[in-house]
Amino acid sequence: MCPRITPVAVGEQEQDDAWVLAFDGWDPADEGRREALCTLGNGRFASRGAHPESRADGVHYPGTYAAGIYNRLRDELAGEVVETESIVNLPNWLDLRFAVGDGDWVALSAVEVGHQRVELDLRRGVLSRWLTVLDDAGRRTSVHQRRFVDMARGDLAGLHTVVTAENWAGRLRVSSGIDGAVTNAGVARYRSMGSRHLRVTEARQAAGDTVLLVARTTQSEAEVAVAARTRVAGTPVTARVWTEPGRIGHEFVCELAEGGSVAVEKVVALVTSRDVAVSRPATAAVQLLAGAPDFEVLRAGHETAWAALWRRFRLDLTDGVGTLPAPETLRVLRMSAFHVLQTVSLHNVDLDAGVPARGLHGEAYRGHVFWDELFVLPMLTLRLPGLARSLLRYRTRRLDAARRSAREAGHTGAMFPWQSGSDGREESQRVHLNPRSGHWIVDISCLQRHVGLAVAWDIWQYHQATADREFLADHGAETLLEIARFFAGLATRGADGRHHIRGVMGPDEFSSRLPGRVGPGLDDNAYTNVLTAWVLQRAGDALDAVPSTRRAELQEQLGLGAAELARWGEVSRTMYVPFHPDGVISQFEGYSDLLELDWDDYRSRYGDIGRLDRILEAEGRSVDDYKVSKQADVLMLFYLMSADELRALLERLGYALPPEAIPRTIDYYLARTAHGSTLSALVHAWVLARANRENALEHVERTLLGDLADLQGGTTAEGIHIGSMAGGVDLLQRCFAGVETREDTLWLNPHWPRKFGRLTVAVQYRGQPLTIEVADREVAVAAAPGPGPAVRVGCGAEIRDLHPGDSALFRAGCP
Ligand code: BGC
Repeated sequence: MCPRITPVAVGEQEQDDAWVLAFDGWDPADEGRREALCTLGNGRFASRGAHPESRADGVHYPGTYAAGIYNRLRDELAGEVVETESIVNLPNWLDLRFAVGDGDWVALSAVEVGHQRVELDLRRGVLSRWLTVLDDAGRRTSVHQRRFVDMARGDLAGLHTVVTAENWAGRLRVSSGIDGAVTNAGVARYRSMGSRHLRVTEARQAAGDTVLLVARTTQSEAEVAVAARTRVAGTPVTARVWTEPGRIGHEFVCELAEGGSVAVEKVVALVTSRDVAVSRPATAAVQLLAGAPDFEVLRAGHETAWAALWRRFRLDLTDGVGTLPAPETLRVLRMSAFHVLQTVSLHNVDLDAGVPARGLHGEAYRGHVFWDELFVLPMLTLRLPGLARSLLRYRTRRLDAARRSAREAGHTGAMFPWQSGSDGREESQRVHLNPRSGHWIVDISCLQRHVGLAVAWDIWQYHQATADREFLADHGAETLLEIARFFAGLATRGADGRHHIRGVMGPDEFSSRLPGRVGPGLDDNAYTNVLTAWVLQRAGDALDAVPSTRRAELQEQLGLGAAELARWGEVSRTMYVPFHPDGVISQFEGYSDLLELDWDDYRSRYGDIGRLDRILEAEGRSVDDYKVSKQADVLMLFYLMSADELRALLERLGYALPPEAIPRTIDYYLARTAHGSTLSALVHAWVLARANRENALEHVERTLLGDLADLQGGTTAEGIHIGSMAGGVDLLQRCFAGVETREDTLWLNPHWPRKFGRLTVAVQYRGQPLTIEVADREVAVAAAPGPGPAVRVGCGAEIRDLHPGDSALFRAGCP
């Protein structure tokens, strides 16, 4: 279970606790979750928090992943040859084992674990472990380890180990290696498929204290070099280099007096052929280590880099949220921000990598990039806009691939893939395994064309927040226009004079086809149709926002003439949106004809019904037949837009959205949603909070605790859920503190419940660092001193120009 602490007023001690995530004991059933939550990374690469002596054995799973390093393998599944691209589990650099006397290498499963505590220091990015083991002969050995993945120098990592012979004297052997014989075996459901992505091409001693292992991915031919420098202090040792197939390392033998210790310092460099400023990864890795200082010096630099990051991402609370006391709320928020920043950091600016839905923390979803950056970018854009820009470049660089996909499917414009990997083609699986029934199911989730709308949304929001005209002119506008063109092309005029989009899926993955219909997909998914109207309007805005010369160039290059623009305008005014007779927006055309599910019956029979799709399939039924959503679909509209914005958009389409229709729509879908995705709690928390509803807090808590408490029943072990982690932080910032960027102004419209105390967040707007403090409906903003122009900050009807060094106090309108 997640560590809880007793509710207290937040003093210094508690503030310190709120930086630490601690796990006691050794619990084989929980190791996977702990490893994912204790992952250390720096955006370039990350390693799970597996114990250094462990190997993949069903309990432990050491995994190291580098952003953007994928490989494809072929398999035969359900009679079909399928090709799958996966993020690659790279050589395990942590490998560090010890043995007492002539005994076996210590494995936790084979000894008595007297004591174990693992602490993740979120402030410093350091994972510490204290372990005491007892062997059959009664010898007690203790181990203290600290490790980090360098946030300052993106290609380095360190592991420091002190082994103490507590009640014995004699020989201790320590092995420090690099294990290149690893496979992708982290997700049980994928284990019947190919898993060997690496071929070790070189393993040698590179210097007296350094070994080097080089591996190549089998298809993408990415080269990965890992060099490990191990130094031992505290006692005389003899050292030798050992090799095994796919592995290499040093073995040290030392004689310990009773109570004596040995300190083993391992510093590692990991370089890939996709890195910048590298000739040959092997040469670079060895050179890096030759010049690298020792563990403590590197660690200090790494901690300084984290301190700088935390200044940008400052988040403080005096009281707790919901039933979570303040230190626990703070800890989970910091943990969320920590894992987001370990997945995407400033090091990504030099990489061509997107936002993998499960972080760099495990192999679920094969490291693919979905639409989750929609939930991640708001947290980043207001603090590290350069990083947000580089993540958007991952998409804009794949514009040609999206154009190709559209063309091949008989469409125009750009069709972004539902699951994206290395080169931007569609990576969604075509069949997936239902672990409950053992059946392979045809998978058509790639019909979630709305991912393109999310890309356009992200580009536009980034533009609003940063006014980065260069990005819009050079990359953003072209991508947005091609997305608009794709959706305009999907829309066809019906006999009713309105435009319809047929054969797609909305965000709710439980609804993929109409009962009885031969073809896949749904008609007129409200979310897709409304956002199509939105993107077609933004296309015009984007053309207006770039310099006229660039506009002319874009129109010429894209062959975008007046007639096509006029059609876009028309489609944007005539999209069809389905409604139920009582004014509730219908998820798609025909939704109201679906069957109602007996929720109580399923809850009582199955307990956790998050994956009703799997439950119903195993019962020989289809989730498509029921009014059952995995996650928010219609309600996504209320997540992305304020009620006023949505109302204006619908009115432009000729539909009314009376105020009473909003709670009715929320209640309708809330009653029919299984929350089988962590994104669901986030969106519901947001929508309910905006509607001032009491039950928002339940969903806020579910969002915050999603991975910590592994609320999706075992999925955290396979990787964190980055969308809900970033979304949890964003909930406080944008939803509750009401921070918004539009009309060249940073707007503050707090909906911060008085009982939550005082919230302090740091943001950066148009290059100006700001500290925002919210208490109840009062909000204070302070601009950091320094050079630069004033920024506009608004609250209600009041707008102020804030110069560097200025501060302002606003009182939002009455709740
Ligand atoms: C959700 C998607 C999400 C994906 C990756 C799925 O379970 O349904 O909306 O993009 O997970 O996080």
